[in-house]
Amino acid sequence: MKVSSHTVARMVGAWQEGPGPAHRRLSDRLRLLVLDGRLSLGAALPSERDLAAALSTSRTTVGAAYRTLTEHGYLATRERARATVRLPDSASPVRRMTADPETIDLSFATPPAPAEILHPAFATALEQLPRHFQRHGSDSYGVDELREAVAGWFDRRGLPTTPDRILITNGAQHALALLARTLLSPRDKVLIEHPTYLHAIRAFTTERARLLPVAMTASGWDVTQLRAVGREAHLAYLIPDFHNPTGLCMPASVRRTVGLRCPTVIDETMTDLALDAEAPEPFALHMPTAISIGSVSKSIWGGLRIGWIRAEPSLLERVVQARPATDLGTPVVEQLATAVLLNEGRTRWATVLQQLRTQRDALRQALSEHLPDVRTERSAGGLTLWATFPEPIASRLAAIAPDHGVTVAAGPRFGIGGAFERNIRIPYTLPPSQLTQAVRRLAQAEQALAQGATGTHTPAPIA
Ligand SMILES: Cc1ncc(COP(=O)(O)O)c(C=O)c1O
Repeated sequence: MKVSSHTVARMVGAWQEGPGPAHRRLSDRLRLLVLDGRLSLGAALPSERDLAAALSTSRTTVGAAYRTLTEHGYLATRERARATVRLPDSASPVRRMTADPETIDLSFATPPAPAEILHPAFATALEQLPRHFQRHGSDSYGVDELREAVAGWFDRRGLPTTPDRILITNGAQHALALLARTLLSPRDKVLIEHPTYLHAIRAFTTERARLLPVAMTASGWDVTQLRAVGREAHLAYLIPDFHNPTGLCMPASVRRTVGLRCPTVIDETMTDLALDAEAPEPFALHMPTAISIGSVSKSIWGGLRIGWIRAEPSLLERVVQARPATDLGTPVVEQLATAVLLNEGRTRWATVLQQLRTQRDALRQALSEHLPDVRTERSAGGLTLWATFPEPIASRLAAIAPDHGVTVAAGPRFGIGGAFERNIRIPYTLPPSQLTQAVRRLAQAEQALAQGATGTHTPAPIA
């Protein structure tokens, strides 16, 4: 696949910033794009001349950067052909990373399983299972028990909902991918917050949509910007409830006034994780046409792989038409167990919320001790802090961190065009002692970078 010079220029972002000669900074940026999968293996890069023009730099700089990448095994070159992306033969970093049980994983923002509540829920689900044995078990809308339980969850949040407005999916990511497939055509424009949840970016670009990023402000959402961009968009995607990655919660005043005209997908995956404030009002209370998606992955356990869409039955019908291309339904036992958990109100469990508060505070404390130059805002809920470094080091830090026993998600993965190179996302889903240890290791990794070390790890998968 050919990658245009303008695309590469957008991806490398502010490559002129930072120490060292220009060709080194450029080759470093390109190497990190390869390592974290934004430049895919086999991609054919633009010619030196085209890229130099797009970057407003000299051909010598681009030529030197390409030569460095070729020498280190990140580019394959042939006479009169475009250079293509590859990985060095000796790079088996993913294997090293996952094989090491001592590595602390900060790339997943998902809590461990609460065994004490899952076991009884699955025991009840197994008792109920035989009543499904007479049917084929592949129901593209989900089982009635769970559709009713999800509708009840919306009712309790103050949004009256009938089960015919609920479609069960295999997690919120699946919900998003199904909606993207149903609602988007190639070149359609999608409004996203910037930064946003990284796999949402993937769901939209897979449908060949164009992204319209709206910058998040320090306090969150700029209504004027959202409205202006919303007028151009075919679809909007927002995470108003404890936004991933920033942890911000959209104020009620914004929910009431934003009034986007385009179809709007509201991701409520984090909504039950209010740590300091009241749980937010469902966005659809103020915008009845909003399409809400959610799941129990963050509030109970990602291993359940259960999510949902709340929308008009006519839209759900279109989604169900699109669904068989990838899957024919959601496993029944997991649905029954999730129905039990939702009916018991387990998605908002005081003990879990208290544990998250303690972990969040321990993480902030460790950051102020070991990485005092890093800024974070205290999140009102959700599972993550969005940490800002004084220097644009995030991708290099993520590539070297596994050498120091920790994996972390670099800011640019949550945006487009190479933005957020000063940010990393840090989840507080681990016990305080591990979080403190992880931050110490990040501090060591940062020091190693400052002393000129480089990392070669491809980033771990993120969620
Ligand atoms: C905002 C947001 N939406 C969707 C998802 C995907 O959730 P699920 O595991 O239910 O597919 C995540 C998971 O990280 C998320 O943070």
